[in-house]
Amino acid sequence: MRNQPSTQKEIPHNISYTVLGYGKPLMLLHGFAEDASIWENQIAHLSAKYKLILPDLPGTGLSKEFPATPHSTIDDFARLILQIADAEELEQFTLIGHSMGGYITLAFAELFPERLDGFGLIHSTAFADSDEKKENRKKSIEFIHKYGALRFLETMIPGLYTEAFALNHPDVIQDHIKPASGFKDSVFTSFYEMMMKRPDRRHVLEKFPKPILFVIGTEDKAVHLNESLDQCQLPVDHQVYILKNVGHMGMKEDPSIVNKALEEFLTYINKK
Ligand code: MLT
Repeated sequence: MRNQPSTQKEIPHNISYTVLGYGKPLMLLHGFAEDASIWENQIAHLSAKYKLILPDLPGTGLSKEFPATPHSTIDDFARLILQIADAEELEQFTLIGHSMGGYITLAFAELFPERLDGFGLIHSTAFADSDEKKENRKKSIEFIHKYGALRFLETMIPGLYTEAFALNHPDVIQDHIKPASGFKDSVFTSFYEMMMKRPDRRHVLEKFPKPILFVIGTEDKAVHLNESLDQCQLPVDHQVYILKNVGHMGMKEDPSIVNKALEEFLTYINKK
């Protein structure tokens, strides 16, 4: 968002979002341990043609944590996205979510399908958490309680990238950790609780009648390649981009391909 004329806005409960650019509306929803700044490499590219709406989920970026966050669900966050869409008077828009942002995107597509002209999942999945994943999340929650969020982030974030990328781009890793190190510990633990509780949403992929985009990293350790490939067979109308030598962070690891995928997907939607 640096160097771009943008407007900072809020909906009730001090939930902040940034609006910039002109054109058809496109909302980009960040994932876990991120805020809207994670889209920095996409913004310059897309804001020339699209009106970008970039929410900071509760407790991240400029948004306040919900008082009721420990009891929130992914669906509650989808309702927040609706409030932002209403505040911006978006009759229909495209919603793209990274990872946890993708879980919210799927909930939104189930609850309010008529508001979308298409949606995209970037390194995300419609499958619910496996037992193994839930166990790992519980261990992460214990780690955060014991050592605090900063040590957790320093351990967790580099693993979202390929080993080679993390080694060669310490600056990108630090840029990722920095904003997240300002979030309260309870933001991380409540997001983990929300993700553990979320249902399987493969039926949303099967039933959604409009285009769906999948961006997949072959080296993604958070959303495995096989799971991603399985789910992208489900929709009636889909576009799939498989990024070689990319982990869970294509927006940072290979921004030009992610930008191309978004651009082509949006052009495809606009031609419909
Ligand atoms: C994310 O990047 O949002 C998380 O990796 C999602 C997850 O842990 O499932």
